[in-house]
Amino acid sequence: MERKKKHNFELNGEKVFLRPWKTSDERALKKLVSDKSIAKFTSIPFPYNPKLAKEYIQRSAKKLKKKDEFHFGIFSKETGELAGNISIIRTEWKHKKVEIGYWLGKKFRKKGLMAEAVQLMLEFAFKKLKLNRVKICCSTKNKTSKKLIEKTGAKYEGTEREALVNGLDKKHDTLVYSILAKEYKKKKEGTKK
Ligand SMILES: CC(C)(COP(=O)(O)OP(=O)(O)OC[C@H]1O[C@@H](n2cnc3c(N)ncnc32)[C@H](O)[C@@H]1OP(=O)(O)O)[C@@H](O)C(=O)NCCC(=O)NCCS
Repeated sequence: MERKKKHNFELNGEKVFLRPWKTSDERALKKLVSDKSIAKFTSIPFPYNPKLAKEYIQRSAKKLKKKDEFHFGIFSKETGELAGNISIIRTEWKHKKVEIGYWLGKKFRKKGLMAEAVQLMLEFAFKKLKLNRVKICCSTKNKTSKKLIEKTGAKYEGTEREALVNGLDKKHDTLVYSILAKEYKKKKEGTKK
């Protein structure tokens, strides 16, 4: 019974599948996330303390149980390897809104994996969780993420000054975008035609 519940959270795409973190992912996570280029645009520290991987996986499981946050590993369908992470955080059920954050290991970039992972997460947020608003932010210097966000149809709302202290302890201004359920639905209907 418990097993079935867990599997409800597996999200399947063409290039990737997403699923909640498991204890057995600890080693692969440590190896992948310990990367300066990830720390540059996220709050994940570099050098990465290996203890953090275990804590992250444990915390993710607790948050998932309470439906506070949804942290999923991204896996390549081609090789089955762990490719990155995507999370729904800052959930405010009363206002039906959340934020999405993500990163990919270096060798998995520029293949369209995150574009697909974000689509899977948006579908999950709007269809399964019945949310109304998803916020996505990135550093003003993160050109790849900016492009990716704009391709989802999310609207730019403004720039927050020094809103991110990255994993290298540098302050970044961040671009704030959001996508609403009605916009997501409209875009999806448009792409089907
Ligand atoms: C930002 C990040 C998640 C983007 O991941 P990604 O999978 O490379 O993103 P996309 O799926 O949008 O693809 C990015 C690029 O690859 C190109 N691409 C997509 N599919 C491709 C394919 N099959 N072959 C070649 N290139 C492809 C896209 O056109 C895009 O190129 P462009 O930026 O010149 O337009 C990744 O670079 C990353 O994790 N960076 C470090 C951490 C970070 O910045 N996290 C986000 C914080 S907001």
